[in-house]
Amino acid sequence: MVDINKLVRGNVIKLTPYSCARDEFKGDSGIFMDANENPFGNLNRYPDPYQKKLKSAISKIKNISEEKIFLGNGSDEIIDLAFRVFCNPGTDKALIFTPTYGMYEVSASVNDIMVVKVPLNEDFQIDLVKAEQFFSDKTLKIIFICSPNNPTGNCLNYSDVEKIIAGFNGIVVIDEAYIDFSDKPSFIKMVDKYPNLIVMQTFSKAFGLAAVRVGMAFSNPSIITYFNKLKPPYNISTVNQNAVLRKLKSIEKYKSQVGKIKSEKERLSAKLKALKITRKVYPSDANFILVKVKDADYIYNTLVLKSIIVRNRSSVIDNCLRITIGTATENNKLLKALNTISI
Ligand SMILES: Cc1ncc(COP(=O)(O)O)c(C=O)c1O
Repeated sequence: MVDINKLVRGNVIKLTPYSCARDEFKGDSGIFMDANENPFGNLNRYPDPYQKKLKSAISKIKNISEEKIFLGNGSDEIIDLAFRVFCNPGTDKALIFTPTYGMYEVSASVNDIMVVKVPLNEDFQIDLVKAEQFFSDKTLKIIFICSPNNPTGNCLNYSDVEKIIAGFNGIVVIDEAYIDFSDKPSFIKMVDKYPNLIVMQTFSKAFGLAAVRVGMAFSNPSIITYFNKLKPPYNISTVNQNAVLRKLKSIEKYKSQVGKIKSEKERLSAKLKALKITRKVYPSDANFILVKVKDADYIYNTLVLKSIIVRNRSSVIDNCLRITIGTATENNKLLKALNTISI
């Protein structure tokens, strides 16, 4: 059984976190003269540092207790916090399966952490034998697994991922930013079984709140306590907390949008497959499609000239474009533009 406290950086264990006014007095009503705020206005008070109302709403939807939830200023804040809690700059390492979401590597560099890159196999799945050879390295502290993976779009095999969580004596972060678009199961319920597991989700994708910057981490209460210890006291603004709370009240609308995006994905995939410029349309569990084309740079530039912006991922996967599913009208415009391209 992994002992979380042994994995945490010494300075993090020792540090005394900032104690804000709202840490000392926890009530909602009264005359507040404790935080040097302006007494006038609607947004004059500091936000709830622990986002209690929001966590209570999320806890019901995700079926997990509030003490196992951490909210970050986007998942990107959670990625950075994971490095700061567990990895000593200059000595420790993190492992990623490439190609994958770019922020793991950027955040590692910011924190002076070395990254071990294990390439996914040709089906974009984990090569367990290649991965496991790094497990005995005592300086390897975190493994990031993105599923559904960006930019490939597929979920990683559940049993491979579970073998990694069970076999690795460090932290495993599973980034499920796109899980709402997938029919495959989330790892959220595994948080009780594996103390070294952190599952991340976000309001930026299926919930349509990318501008709001709220990411979720689900993990055992001990890891959540360390995240709370390191985070800036008021990391999620009141405006943003309320925006998510409003969204959670119209959960049916969110479900219907996800349904529309999924059916548009099927339609767009079929149409893309039929194009002469297409070499391969990869299966997707996300809200985007990875497409191998004849000449990605040329197609990308031609689309830009028509004010249609897709993501050129040729630098990481040969001649591949990543296309986010738009509205039916937007998808039709893309198809019309692609139809006029001949190479
Ligand atoms: C796999 C993955 N994780 C996380 C994020 C970012 O999430 P957030 O907006 O919550 O920071 C992205 C954004 O593209 C992503 O692709």
